[in-house]
Amino acid sequence: MSNPSLLILPGDGIGPEVMAEVRKIIDWYGTKRDLTFDVSEDLVGGAAYDKHGVPLADATMDKAQEVDAVLLGAVGGPKYDSLDFSVKPERGLLRLRKEMDLYANLRPAQCFDALADFSSLKRDVVAGLDIMIVRELTSGVYFGEPRGIFEEGNERVGINTQRYTESEIDRVARSAFELAMKRDKKLCSMEKANVMESGVLWREVVTKVGEDYPEVELSHMYADAGAMQLTRWPKQFDVIVTDNLFGDLLSDLAAMLTGSLGMLPSASLGAPMANGRPKALYEPVHGSAPDIAGQGKANPIACILSFAMALRYSFDAGDEATRLEEAVNAVLADGLRTADLLGEEGVQPVSTSEMGDAIVAKLDASL
Ligand code: NAD
Ligand code: IPM
Ligand code: MN
Repeated sequence: MSNPSLLILPGDGIGPEVMAEVRKIIDWYGTKRDLTFDVSEDLVGGAAYDKHGVPLADATMDKAQEVDAVLLGAVGGPKYDSLDFSVKPERGLLRLRKEMDLYANLRPAQCFDALADFSSLKRDVVAGLDIMIVRELTSGVYFGEPRGIFEEGNERVGINTQRYTESEIDRVARSAFELAMKRDKKLCSMEKANVMESGVLWREVVTKVGEDYPEVELSHMYADAGAMQLTRWPKQFDVIVTDNLFGDLLSDLAAMLTGSLGMLPSASLGAPMANGRPKALYEPVHGSAPDIAGQGKANPIACILSFAMALRYSFDAGDEATRLEEAVNAVLADGLRTADLLGEEGVQPVSTSEMGDAIVAKLDASL
């Protein structure tokens, strides 16, 4: 049988820096666990714009459709901020999500023990936290029409449209219920049914899907109250399902429960392909971090944990995913910190590549 295929899109800013560390992990699995991937690499975001004049070339899009999984670093940066909307780096990522139909974005927020003091919240609020946000990723206000900036009388108006069909809500709700079944069987759906019709429909459809999952305890919350509850007592949640925009905001908020945005991985999953694997793209939740790019300061853990999610969800290697997560846990327990995780007295930060090397050493030690 041929090796599983992986398309790597490092992107911009710290994207290539953190991806270099993931390459070390991938190489380790090839040499030490006989788990070899056919890896190809291509451009996305500003890097693709610089070469092709578009943030994602058609040939790259085609490749992404063919491989078993895509791993992406980050896109964007100040250099590209004034570009026309149609060619901004972020459009490259949005095109991948839309054309691969990656409707379920899994964003786990787990607080590693060694980092419980790094959250801006008190230790007992976050210690042991393990929640999963399922963000709808291919619809809602990110893609709804009409959109644009239009002339209206003697001024301009900016328009975006929140739009959800029943089937779009149904499929992401099912993904969330399925996850809840494998976890603590608790699902909280967040919308704003008090002010938005799309929220009313969302609540109705999620409730209906819930009839197929009688074992899962389903609750509903307005998303603003959900944000408050996530900071007040996040451990009340197990799985959260929400729309594209609320999910974007709530997952960044959840990042700070874990100590740093540099810790949060994600998996964007679509329908199963012919081989039974879901269409999939894995990426850290963070962006290209232009403020620290090129300085060897970036935390590679979010991207490394995204690869762990690939092992689990695309490559049927849950044990190896756990091995990698434990290696991350072990370096943190040893006190290794990249600069985003400083705060303890006398601790010197390690560089991006030192962190990657230390995780590889822990993988070695696990054999
Ligand atoms: P950001 O996530 O890039 O950075 C926010 C803050 O977190 C910065 O202070 C940064 O230094 C820090 N940070 C982020 N990741 C880190 C890491 N791995 N290690 C250490 N510190 C880290 O968000 P932003 O500054 O709002 O956006 C910068 C650019 O990234 C924009 O162009 C934005 O559109 C893009 N962006 C891309 C993605 C993506 O590719 N998925 C996600 C979010 C933002
Ligand atoms: C994310 C990012 C993206 C989003 C941007 C870069 C398009 O913020 O992945 O969270 O808004 O979805
Ligand atoms: Mn975001």
